[in-house]
Amino acid sequence: MHFSTCCELLVVITTLCYGAPSRSANTCGYETCNLGDPSKLNVHIVAHTHDDVGWLKTVDQYFYGARNDIQHAAVQYILDSVIIALDENPDRRFIYVEVGFFWRWWNQQTGDIQTKVQQFVNEGRLEFISGGWCMNDEASTHYNSIIDQHTLGAEFIRQAFGECGRPKIGWQIDPFGHSREQASLFAQMGFDGLFFGRADYEDIQTRNRTKTREMVWKASANLGEQSWLFTGILPNGYGAPNSFCFDYRCSDNPIMDDNRRFDLNVQERVRSFIQAAHDEAAGYATNHIIMTFGGDFQYEDANQNFKNLDKLIKYVNAEVYINNLQ
Ligand SMILES: *[C@@H]1O[C@H](CO)[C@@H](O)[C@H](O)[C@H]1NC(C)=O
Repeated sequence: MHFSTCCELLVVITTLCYGAPSRSANTCGYETCNLGDPSKLNVHIVAHTHDDVGWLKTVDQYFYGARNDIQHAAVQYILDSVIIALDENPDRRFIYVEVGFFWRWWNQQTGDIQTKVQQFVNEGRLEFISGGWCMNDEASTHYNSIIDQHTLGAEFIRQAFGECGRPKIGWQIDPFGHSREQASLFAQMGFDGLFFGRADYEDIQTRNRTKTREMVWKASANLGEQSWLFTGILPNGYGAPNSFCFDYRCSDNPIMDDNRRFDLNVQERVRSFIQAAHDEAAGYATNHIIMTFGGDFQYEDANQNFKNLDKLIKYVNAEVYINNLQ
């Protein structure tokens, strides 16, 4: 795919659709990918939350939202809130990563909610990414532990959701450094790709300049192509582009789009988003770019995120605004 020189953007909200073409007849998985338009710069928005399975608080405190004086974080409400938001609008999608939390939440749901969540997974609207019990560190972790914790998460997902739940992408967005063995294990687990958020700043600058933020990692000296893994460094850590965090944890402005009011910012927000997309695209080799919208324990009020994302996507894709900008 060659880099597009055109000015038009197509923004789609997506789960992770990178990698090989579809392999199963389900409506989930790659079947549900929006392949965009080859003549445009295609921006794939990935809505996500990053939920540490134990950091400044205990796992129980993080799940319930206890000791919010230490850090405001409450995973039970995040999952409640995301499921309601997905139910409200079938265009919305979300990825979830940390099965240690999801398992606790799942066990507290009614049969009706469980059925609804299974339907979201079957439609490719809720996608498990990585799917370990947690997002393990890569420096101090023994490979047996990595395999064990991924087995535990994957087995829960298999029992609760079957084939449509199977994670296909590694998601190591917060570890401080990346090991070749982790990538090799992911390739051997059958993953089609890996994304991470942190890399040395000089490495990022060089890769940004040479459009090599995405690469194929040859993850093992012995295993050959079996260990090759598509790997991408995310554009902005794992956060939204600057000034586009709609979460209650941020203080960026919402999209204000009522033209009978004075505080109308939609045109400026569209212009700024298009600029951010082109700046980002400069560091990537193709006309399909990923944009994460999420962060640590975000989406506790998922409506706030999705309501503004819905508007952003609508207005950026609307010809009238794009034409006005040229
Ligand atoms: C990548 O390069 C583009 C174009 O020069 C620039 O706008 C952007 O800020 C760079 N990003 C990083 C992280 O260096």
